[in-house]
Amino acid sequence: MMRAAIRSANASENRAVGANQINTRGPAIRTDGLAVSELTVKFGGLAAISDVTLSLCVGEIVGLIGPNGAGKTTLVNVLTGFQKPSSGEVTLNGHETRKWGASRFRREGVARTFQSGRLFGKLSVLENAEVSAIAMGASRDKARKQAVELLEWVGLREVLQRPAESLAYTDQRRLDIARALCSDAKYVLLDEPAAGMSDTECDDLMHLIRAMPRKFDCAVLLIEHNMHVVMGLSDRLHVLDGGRTIVEGVPAEVQAHEAFLRAYLGAEIVE
Ligand SMILES: Nc1ncnc2c1ncn2[C@@H]1O[C@H](COP(=O)(O)OP(=O)(O)OP(=O)(O)O)[C@@H](O)[C@H]1O
Ligand SMILES: [Mg+2]
Repeated sequence: MMRAAIRSANASENRAVGANQINTRGPAIRTDGLAVSELTVKFGGLAAISDVTLSLCVGEIVGLIGPNGAGKTTLVNVLTGFQKPSSGEVTLNGHETRKWGASRFRREGVARTFQSGRLFGKLSVLENAEVSAIAMGASRDKARKQAVELLEWVGLREVLQRPAESLAYTDQRRLDIARALCSDAKYVLLDEPAAGMSDTECDDLMHLIRAMPRKFDCAVLLIEHNMHVVMGLSDRLHVLDGGRTIVEGVPAEVQAHEAFLRAYLGAEIVE
């Protein structure tokens, strides 16, 4: 992937790249899709997100990447109503969302998975998915049908009656995806779905995620540290470091870009 030799550099040097970025400000503000503009999120004195503009439209897969602590999960929290912005706007198809809580985002078609899993451990795999559909207003019959279909699709057909907590970690991540899809989501935000997966499991997961925009007529925002997965799936990438957008573009552009090499990989290009 990288031809340039690299060596370690400290974070402040990494962030000093600036001038040659493909796009440091993000696209013009769009009125369609799920979007944040000029978003800042502060926790006390710490700016977890600074002036980030990003949009997500039905039909596309957008990769959101960056080193640990870059602000990726915080951005997903804002896009799903789990975290209020300090400043900036979140819009859904042009509608201001300032007063929306997480359940409103969910009702409007924005669903997510969690980096650290939030399944109902004692409930069965099937019940976990059904609960998600019922919360969206589905009847018990419809919820059951939808849950079974989606659980089969993610590869959990054999374990429908098992308690969620008894599943392997990687199967719990698949269940989390099925739960997100059970709500007829138009915007599916996946927070490190491939974490802990083997290469073969990653390839299976990639097939699923790649199929999602067409199969479910949705958009996918994919946070992922596995470069093979995120580069292979994303139509475009948005790279954060220290809460700021440092580069965005199509994968081929981004992965050859100095800002990506320096900041994301924590390295300085020598030649
Ligand atoms: N609720 C919170 N209170 C205080 N600080 C927070 C809170 N949530 C996140 N942070 C801080 O904000 C920064 C961004 O965190 P975030 O979890 O969004 O990063 P991330 O890119 O998802 O990292 P990772 O790749 O490790 O998951 C970090 O410095 C983190 O410690
Ligand atoms: Mg995170």
